[in-house]
Amino acid sequence: MREDAGSALTAAARRSLAGTSDPRLRFVMDRLIAHLHAFIRETELTEAEWLRAIQFLTATGQISDDRRQEFILLSDVLGASMLVDEINHPAGGLVTASTVLGPFYRPGARDLPLGASISQDARGEPAVFSGRVLAPGGTPIPGALLDVWETNENGLYEQQDPDQPDMNLRGRFRTDAAGRYTFTGIKPVSYAIPDDGPVGTLLRALGRHPYRPAHIHFIVSAQGYRPLTTHLFVKGDPYLASDAVFATRDALVVDFIRHDTPTEAAAHGVTAPFYTVTYDFVLQPLDTAPAPGGGTAPQSARIKEAQP
Ligand code: BEZ
Ligand code: FE
Repeated sequence: MREDAGSALTAAARRSLAGTSDPRLRFVMDRLIAHLHAFIRETELTEAEWLRAIQFLTATGQISDDRRQEFILLSDVLGASMLVDEINHPAGGLVTASTVLGPFYRPGARDLPLGASISQDARGEPAVFSGRVLAPGGTPIPGALLDVWETNENGLYEQQDPDQPDMNLRGRFRTDAAGRYTFTGIKPVSYAIPDDGPVGTLLRALGRHPYRPAHIHFIVSAQGYRPLTTHLFVKGDPYLASDAVFATRDALVVDFIRHDTPTEAAAHGVTAPFYTVTYDFVLQPLDTAPAPGGGTAPQSARIKEAQP
């Protein structure tokens, strides 16, 4: 009898979407209501638990501002960000794998000449990054934009750390006529995602650590190509197998080669020891990019939707 009442409620909530003119919104909301109701029924959620969940989401909103994005963090630690990423950018094929944006991207980084350093405070171990931006057939893409950011040697992004200059360790570079880029940054370190808010409380309750393997972020874009949001990870990092946000991809793990010779360092405008890393990014041409969702229900979902 209770189940009948529940089913009637779910059906009524789904019927309430009948006036939604946007077909994609109607489809997504319909599935959200159906799955949410099924989750509540399956777990026999108590009123206290539902209230706790609402308090948790309220706290997540209250701690968020233009420097702190706790909702993105929540989506990240639940694996939701990476799942959306995987659906929209399937792994494999000829193009570079993408991964999560994360909550620390800031638009408006300085445009720097090729070879410049993104570090404004000379902390950390210097690392020289170089490579090319290519089309899938190997054709170089001149004028491609690389927007890069990383933490300092203390594991903090500049907006988390009052001791760093504004926009430290961020920069934008354009590839040359041969599609090449080069810039200096620092060897990334593994770091803990912010765990002094509701997401940290959740991680502790689940017995999980907050660490991400060492990485540097890139958004690579060029006219006629799909923008690529990705990282390069440091080979050998102890957290590669247990990233707190599930965002590692094997193809993005690279060797940071150590150099100890002062003359070699001087040639790169850095001091020894320093590291070099080489990586070619391959972008997907826009005309070959599939469009998940596409405004209506995917085929598999339309079949499910017809079922009770
Ligand atoms: C990051 O790599 O910046 C990041 C990604 C997801 C959650 C927290 C941080
Ligand atoms: Fe990061």
